[in-house]
Amino acid sequence: MYRVAVMVSGTGSNLQALIDNVHRNDKVDAQVVLVVCSKEDAPAIARAREAGIRAEVVTLDAHGGDRARRDGEVVRLLRLVAPDLVVMAGWMSIVTPVLLDAFPDQVINLHPSLLPAFPGLDAIGQALDWGVRLTGVTVHIAEEAVDGGPPILQEPVPVLHGDTRDSLGARIHGVEHRLLSRCVTLYAQGRIHRDPAHPRRMIVDDGGS
Ligand code: GRF
Repeated sequence: MYRVAVMVSGTGSNLQALIDNVHRNDKVDAQVVLVVCSKEDAPAIARAREAGIRAEVVTLDAHGGDRARRDGEVVRLLRLVAPDLVVMAGWMSIVTPVLLDAFPDQVINLHPSLLPAFPGLDAIGQALDWGVRLTGVTVHIAEEAVDGGPPILQEPVPVLHGDTRDSLGARIHGVEHRLLSRCVTLYAQGRIHRDPAHPRRMIVDDGGS
């Protein structure tokens, strides 16, 4: 079985998409085996527990605001379940090399824009403010630079006349749910690798789809 750990901070709709799409996909034997949440009482925790998945809360406050110490605790919990892949699905806190070096090339992040456009907070608001006609969704390898690692999958989402954060956000979230589920499925099928000739590029064997 391909073992997936998911790091979350809030609503957890992307976690739910993974539970709904990946667990029930008979073409792949993958399961979310642990959820780590950065906030007490986040709805994502209840989603995990309802699906019978162990959920642990690891806050920055409980570690004196020290990200490296906090990441040490995250790494300890992750190692207990020996994950093949660690998915940051709405994890709203900067991570350190303590986490990234413990799981090299195994930590991926989801971001609601076509990176490198609009990294950081409120990517949807940034896209609306800039007036772009196209934004989208990126799943990428997590690196120390925020939203900076090589993209794995990207999908454009048009910005429509009259769009608000809510209306554009709803369409982006729909794409996120599908794209993240597809990405985890492709990983579990062994179809995603770094290009040895171009380390910034990922090779994705998605059957041309
Ligand atoms: C998503 O838009 C993700 O791209 C961003 O945070 C949001 C999390 O949403 N990093 P949810 O908690 O999965 O509903």
